[in-house]
Amino acid sequence: MTICTIILAAGKGTRMRSDLPKVLHRIADKPLLRHVYDLCQQIEHNQIKIIYGYGGEQVKQTLSDINAVWIEQAQQLGTGHAVIQAKDQIADKDTVLILYGDVPLLKLVTVETLLAQVTAQTLALLTVELPNPTGYGRIVRNAKGQVIKIVEEKDANALEKQITEVNTGIMAIDGAKLKDCVARLTNQNAQGEYYLTDVIELAVADGFSIASSQPQTVEEVLGVNNKAQLSQLERVYQLEQAKVLMAQGISLRDPARFDLRGSLEQIGQDIEIDVNVLLEGRISLGHRVKIGANVILKNAVIADDVDILPMTIIEDAIIGQGSRVGPFARIRPETELDVNVHIGNFVEIKKTKVAAGSKINHLSYIGDAIVGSQVNIGAGTITCNYDGVNKSITVIGDGAFIGSDTQLIAPVSVGKNATIGAGSTITKDVPENQLTLSRGKQTTVPGWQRPSKK
Ligand code: UD1
Ligand code: CA
Repeated sequence: MTICTIILAAGKGTRMRSDLPKVLHRIADKPLLRHVYDLCQQIEHNQIKIIYGYGGEQVKQTLSDINAVWIEQAQQLGTGHAVIQAKDQIADKDTVLILYGDVPLLKLVTVETLLAQVTAQTLALLTVELPNPTGYGRIVRNAKGQVIKIVEEKDANALEKQITEVNTGIMAIDGAKLKDCVARLTNQNAQGEYYLTDVIELAVADGFSIASSQPQTVEEVLGVNNKAQLSQLERVYQLEQAKVLMAQGISLRDPARFDLRGSLEQIGQDIEIDVNVLLEGRISLGHRVKIGANVILKNAVIADDVDILPMTIIEDAIIGQGSRVGPFARIRPETELDVNVHIGNFVEIKKTKVAAGSKINHLSYIGDAIVGSQVNIGAGTITCNYDGVNKSITVIGDGAFIGSDTQLIAPVSVGKNATIGAGSTITKDVPENQLTLSRGKQTTVPGWQRPSKK
């Protein structure tokens, strides 16, 4: 069986009150349309057609990597009209699946159930019970309980408005039959639109039967029409992800205060994550990693037994086994910490390799540097890596001890086991094993007196 999925994504989404086309708004940092596309990719023998319209070029550019046929609907004259645009792309023997670019949380099992119901004489419809059905098309059944038509809210009479079983819009139908029905749609209705929903009544008149099924949760079929719904579905999605991670053994102190905007590529055992942690991009977490409250990790590889203390931000970096980072540390791109490194509060590290066992515990900026093993960098040490035009490198040898408040004016190198006295401004290379300092001698002025008011 070949599936032809048509994703309707032409609408502007006026209620989003945004210049961004609706389907490009994001859940977990991924455009709504890409959520739908990713689901489609899990369906076998599936050819994907996307009906685009408003903001078309931007939509196509944002999803330029996907494997789908883009079909323009220049004017949005209704969901039926949208499907008509794809008629040349539908083979008679295809099973056509209709999805929506703004319904991001639909599950594969729900789609598979729907597809399994389709036959040459059966249209499969996904419906849902809503206590408050306002705004949705209502599912009208006959005395035998068979679906006979869908009535849109604006066309419904008082009795029909009381129906709480509504149309999700998602359906699957034989390709030839769909093409036959959409060709016969009219726009004689309250909204002057070509309704895809009218296909049901046409198919029933031709002797088709309508099979209906329901999703496991209502959230699966909720669409995004405004910012409030977007945030609601973000939370639903995040909670789902959190549950998956907990099932894999991660301890989340509060799954409602956890966000993953990307993917966890590797996870070890006995990981503990405190509240308000945000993981972005591709993240790997080793065994026994502990992540404190309010930590942000983006594209980071965190090895076994690492302790990340609260309020720390780590981006595009590798943190070696047994290291401790934070609280209040900022690890910037291209940083690599080897094993057992300690980075403390108010320390910023950029594009720097730090070898095993080194400590940078307080108030330092280390950028464009190569730091050896067992180095101790005192509080307030700064690598002056930028002269306003060029970036230069600082090399610090194994076992060096850099006194507090040292400025290392790069390019400069510090020899192995060198000691630099506190408060030094280092402009020349520092020899191994010796004490180097550059500080004015302390003097006391005898007999000096504080000025007094005249
Ligand atoms: C539609 C259904 C309604 C159902 C509801 C579920 C019809 C006539 N009504 O109503 O029964 O309960 O969805 O949410 O189908 N779109 C296009 N081109 C168009 C019109 C719409 O691509 O010309 C796209 C929109 O971008 C959107 C989707 O189709 O993603 C649904 O359109 P919308 O206008 O929101 O449909 P509803 O009026 O909500
Ligand atoms: Ca509409």
